[in-house]
Amino acid sequence: MIIAVDGPAASGKGTLAAGLAAHYRLPCLDTGLLYRAVGQAVALFEDTPFFEDKAIAAALCLDAAALEDTALLTTAQAGVLASKVAVIAQVRQALFDFQRDFATRPGGAVLDGRDIGTKICPDADVKLFIKADSKARMERRARQLEARGETVDRYALYHQIEERDARDMLNPHGGFYKADDAHLLDTTQLSIEAALRAAIAIVDRTMALKAGGRSSS
Ligand code: CDP
Repeated sequence: MIIAVDGPAASGKGTLAAGLAAHYRLPCLDTGLLYRAVGQAVALFEDTPFFEDKAIAAALCLDAAALEDTALLTTAQAGVLASKVAVIAQVRQALFDFQRDFATRPGGAVLDGRDIGTKICPDADVKLFIKADSKARMERRARQLEARGETVDRYALYHQIEERDARDMLNPHGGFYKADDAHLLDTTQLSIEAALRAAIAIVDRTMALKAGGRSSS
């Protein structure tokens, strides 16, 4: 079973994806980490004419070890850099195979990101599109960063998330929208546990419907 979990920054998709993976005993890939790792690799070239070429080269030779330093990769600044490399078509292309190989391993997988249901796994068994309003997302991200000891300027963070959303939405090479067959889950008012219960209910229902469809055909 392949489960695709998409949604904007700090919508809770990563936490949900990890919860679903634990529940169904599937491996989980946070695809944002790939873009973050590429962004981090070229941080020194930000705002220089070499940024794009360096980012493509970094994406082409990215390996799993680069994803291990999650403390470095999950800073707010790494998120901004990620969204800058994510608009480069050749970077997306270079990261496609990595994601596709992960998704198609025997037994299945859970992947979370922006374009899993639309581009990476349009054939996923279950697609979830997670949303939450901007203020709730900012507050969640602020608490996440504070829990790690970072000092957070909530006003700046709110604008950073909005700016990143805008760049993501306008990405000409992205597929950052809800797939027609994705289930929308609004987590604005939901605790992590309630959101996970709702997501599991959607997965179980979808798989049961599919099994029913198969046995009656
Ligand atoms: O956790 P959060 O939603 O803040 O960010 P993330 O999922 O780690 O993604 C960071 C950035 O990488 C996003 O703002 C996108 O620009 C990019 N990204 C992407 O283009 N495609 C994906 N499948 C995942 C992330």
